[in-house]
Amino acid sequence: MSTVVETDVLIVGSGPAGASAALALSTYGVPNIVVTRYASLADTPRAHITNQRTMEVLRDLGVEQEVVAQATPQHLMGNTTFCTSLAGEELGRVRSWGNDPLVQAEHELASPTRMCDMPQHLMEPVLVNAAVARGTRLRFQNEYLSHTQDADGVTATVRDRLRGDTYEIRAKYLIGADGGRSRVAADAGLPMGGQMGVAGSINIVFEADLTQYTAHRPATLYWVLAPGATVGGIGAGLVRCVRPWTEWLIVWGYDVTAGAPDLTTEYAESVVRKLVGDDDIPVTVKSSSAWTVNEMYAESYANGRVFCAGDAVHRHPPSNGLGSNTSIQDAYNLAWKLKLVLDGTAHPRLLDSYTAERAPIGRQIVTRANRSIRETAPVFEALDGLAPQTPEQLWANIAARKDATAAAEKQRAELREAIAFKAYEFNAHGVDLNQRYPAESSAAIVPDGTPDPGFPRDPELHHQPSSRPGARLPHAWITSGSRMLSTLDTVGRGRFTLLTGIGGEDWVRAAGAQEVEIATVVIGPGREYEDPYGDWARLSEISDGGALLVRPDGFVAFRHASAAPDAGELLADALRTILGHA
Ligand code: FDA
Repeated sequence: MSTVVETDVLIVGSGPAGASAALALSTYGVPNIVVTRYASLADTPRAHITNQRTMEVLRDLGVEQEVVAQATPQHLMGNTTFCTSLAGEELGRVRSWGNDPLVQAEHELASPTRMCDMPQHLMEPVLVNAAVARGTRLRFQNEYLSHTQDADGVTATVRDRLRGDTYEIRAKYLIGADGGRSRVAADAGLPMGGQMGVAGSINIVFEADLTQYTAHRPATLYWVLAPGATVGGIGAGLVRCVRPWTEWLIVWGYDVTAGAPDLTTEYAESVVRKLVGDDDIPVTVKSSSAWTVNEMYAESYANGRVFCAGDAVHRHPPSNGLGSNTSIQDAYNLAWKLKLVLDGTAHPRLLDSYTAERAPIGRQIVTRANRSIRETAPVFEALDGLAPQTPEQLWANIAARKDATAAAEKQRAELREAIAFKAYEFNAHGVDLNQRYPAESSAAIVPDGTPDPGFPRDPELHHQPSSRPGARLPHAWITSGSRMLSTLDTVGRGRFTLLTGIGGEDWVRAAGAQEVEIATVVIGPGREYEDPYGDWARLSEISDGGALLVRPDGFVAFRHASAAPDAGELLADALRTILGHA
């Protein structure tokens, strides 16, 4: 065995976390290699909900339009339906994923992007193709086995599964994006909290033309309350649209203490029949697999030169559709920091901010996703369906809601309320967009002395913009000549950006005098960018002569409310702190 390859960053895994880390690093010009165990990318749909924050990341990385072209659009995602089977009785719907008119307005105001449904087997090729086109070296059928690290780098032992031999890759940094059974995270000794294997679940991928049961109430998710639906799983039986309205994925639970059932085609077909409810429709089962619901997160995402991202450090059920979104966002947070450390601009201690910023988000989404499962119980409770009972009893309870009795009216109200409460799973816009990195925990954020505005509205349901350091730059439509663009379009591309207005000339000069590249954006009448709607003036929370310094990942790192004659000094101080030189 000899060292055959050297690189700056070795990435283990080509899922959403690894592929987007590779894409970002290659976009920033950082040499990287991806090793991935299998001969192909994901061959089943898995993750699909792609939220606005992820679309913003993809927009910055130049692949947003490719994703939009392949994804199911937002307006076909929204009628999350609760029913006894697709062909059976409908119990209610909740307008989801930004399709409620009020929530839709919040989506439009929050971001230049739109949420969409992009199945993982389509997303991974987009990310990986772009990464490889920009320089990533990708090795399929190469399996990470172990690593050692020293003061200068990491040496990973890798097995080439095609040739059958092992070799070493020497890298300055290692990213473990190797999923929920991460060997890298285990080898790095990352401390994990929570529990694996909380419940058992089965995915069944199948083809069937279900247009007659779905096209009139287009949705990504159809939830089925059938006998047995509360055993294991993710709260109820689920028929998920992969491609409207012919490709599907069912999620069905099993008792984890009894072990997964034998996943024969007959068994899979029987579950499909139960949830579809129409035996005359031709069904082709493509695959089935068992997995477990997990409730686990890492307390630290790094050990020395080894960093983990994605499911390697947060393991949770698909509720709220947060898995690949958070994985992509982890990678985006890490990539620019690695770039600046590798090119000598930043001190390696900038990398400490990765755990400080992302671990609290990981814990939050693991908790949210598991809570969402538990919040499905009231839907069953409204039908008295949690108590052990025969199928006949469940059907009778469901039928009873149609009676003209006070009890039935109460049942109808409870059912409506329980279904509407699922907004915390299907319309949690705040969970998607309210991520903030407090200066108290992250050294890559410079406090500006203002009090934390918190979240006056429900932080899980409603996005609430802020330009306070640690918040994502608020989106506002501005113009440049005849072109309309988002404030978010002025930042990113691997560099810092300073936004100011009329009177902010000292800030512009100061930005040009720094060693690190800082793009400058001046917004105001007669300047390169204008604010014709006044949205930016309302959202920026600074005076015209003030400044926001935005990190390459779109988060505000430093804010000064007004013009400052000593802008040069203030900015240099801020950068020293952010880049770990203070
Ligand atoms: P992921 O598991 O995708 O990738 C790991 C990679 O590492 C793979 O390429 C693997 O081959 C490789 N690997 C592993 N060990 C290796 C080794 N030793 N050497 C080399 N390579 C190795 N999420 C979401 O955001 N929205 C959603 O709607 C859903 N829905 C959903 C539905 C269902 C049914 C499931 C099961 C899951 C979801 N998810 C989801 C979750 C989502 O699939 C998951 O969070 C992401 O795939 C995580 O991405 P990662 O890149 O971290 O790991």
